[in-house]
Amino acid sequence: MSNIQEEINKRRTFAIISHPDAGKTTLTEKLLLFGGAIQTAGAVKSNKIKKSATSDFMEIEKQRGISVATSVMGFNYEGLKINLLDTPGHKDFAEDTFRTLTAVDSVVLIIDCVNGVEEQTEKLMNVCRMRKTPVIVFINKLDREGQDPFTLLDEIEEKLQIKVRPLSWPINIGDRFKGVYNLYDSSLNLFQVNKTNIEDEVIAINDLTDPSLDEFVGEDDANQLREDVELIEGVYEKFSVEDYLAGDLAPVFFGSALNNFGVQELLNSFIRIAPSPRPTHTDTREIIPTEKKLSGFVFKIHANLDPKHRDRIAFFKICSGTFERNKFYYHVRNEKKLRFSNPTSFMAQDKNIIDEAFPGDVIGLYDTGSFKIGDTLTEGEEMIFKGIPSFSPEIFRELINKDPMKSKQLEKGIQQLTDEGVAQMFIQQPGNRKIIGVVGELQFEVIQYRLKHEYGASCNFQHKNFHKACWLTGDKAKIEEFVRRKSSYVAIDKDGNYVFMAESAFLLRQAQFDYPEIEFHTTSEFKVG
Ligand code: G4P
Repeated sequence: MSNIQEEINKRRTFAIISHPDAGKTTLTEKLLLFGGAIQTAGAVKSNKIKKSATSDFMEIEKQRGISVATSVMGFNYEGLKINLLDTPGHKDFAEDTFRTLTAVDSVVLIIDCVNGVEEQTEKLMNVCRMRKTPVIVFINKLDREGQDPFTLLDEIEEKLQIKVRPLSWPINIGDRFKGVYNLYDSSLNLFQVNKTNIEDEVIAINDLTDPSLDEFVGEDDANQLREDVELIEGVYEKFSVEDYLAGDLAPVFFGSALNNFGVQELLNSFIRIAPSPRPTHTDTREIIPTEKKLSGFVFKIHANLDPKHRDRIAFFKICSGTFERNKFYYHVRNEKKLRFSNPTSFMAQDKNIIDEAFPGDVIGLYDTGSFKIGDTLTEGEEMIFKGIPSFSPEIFRELINKDPMKSKQLEKGIQQLTDEGVAQMFIQQPGNRKIIGVVGELQFEVIQYRLKHEYGASCNFQHKNFHKACWLTGDKAKIEEFVRRKSSYVAIDKDGNYVFMAESAFLLRQAQFDYPEIEFHTTSEFKVG
């Protein structure tokens, strides 16, 4: 058996996050090329759901197929095993992305130098900040006329509330883009359009006063670079790996993913500083990856694309110990022992059955309905991993059964879809009314389509005028009183917790004012916190 410490040291599990169109698919593909996981550009299908998908369900199905294949892309690089977890770009599926972020040890955040920090970037960064995830920033598309790099850095610090430290610096931009100077290694990387080789060819320039710099980039740009670097050294503190690992400081790189430019520099820095699997928190204690006994959690569930087979793939992140095929593990929520005869690993687009896997790895477990998002497996210990929060949905509708003969199918279907995390369900009395909450409209269409095609059930959705779902904590007697008084605005979530369905921000503030003993939370994180 392999040495667990060595295996842990080798692993780097991360995700690339960005606002749609910043270049996530392009960068992913270039990283896989470096890792030798794919041979040609264009091999990674975009996991993007195009805007037109709202009315094109075949497209959604196709995308679901692609997203299984690209959910986890493992590759080897410089003796390390790198696990890149994919996240859907479409904002309507943001919750899926938030959950994936609970399974990574670090992230690479892409910013388009033309558009700067965009809405989705801010939301994703909020989750990283909450979890103190180390972030490396890659500013992309330097071959286009973008914003001034100092302005971009200020915008990142301000909007994303994280300190930054450039480790490379661009020489001009757009048509006049000449390359980047690496401040960490003191080397120059000259830009070539449509570079076909994927490796950077760097020139060592240890001293910026070296006149050869003028020869390479021209006198004006060389002088500008000297000035910029002086300013950077004066304004930004020295880069500290500890601050990066603590999630307090983000190193910044510049490049152009489309042109293979700066990608190798990014990857080389990534393997130098990105963390190997880190300790994880459960409701009872901290789990150290080197612990002998297996523990981990399910952060994503994917339904089988073939409606005749109800089995699903649960994506299981290993937090400690060694996972072994055919060994019995304890499913904490169900209080049951389970074993898995064909767990799969994901190396790029190949799925292989594995005999063992280690902390940092994500494996696929075939499941016939026993898993929900957030479920924990152990070797018998009663604990649950923290940090798989539900966020308050933003759009709510009541699920209406259109075919009373199929109510059982509808019941089962919506239960399974909500276990998969497609949407959240809140039950309201009287009448066990099912309120479905989602982040984006597209999810309602996916639910309706999948209930019909996978469960044979027909449904409609009735608009509900809720603003937020708030989980309640605090004084028990006061909560009971609140629930009694506001019964038409209280529902029960999937774990049996009370949730206040606030109709407006004003009514939420009013409730907070009337019940100071109660805390109103817009994420369910507190439950396990
Ligand atoms: P996403 O996954 O983050 O949504 O972005 P994706 O990689 O699909 O990139 C979005 C668009 O930006 C693509 O163009 C892509 O070619 C382009 N792009 C990515 N990196 C760079 C870069 O460094 N420079 C420039 N100029 N463009 C870049 P598209 O026209 O939308 O798609 P496609 O037809 O080229 O695939």
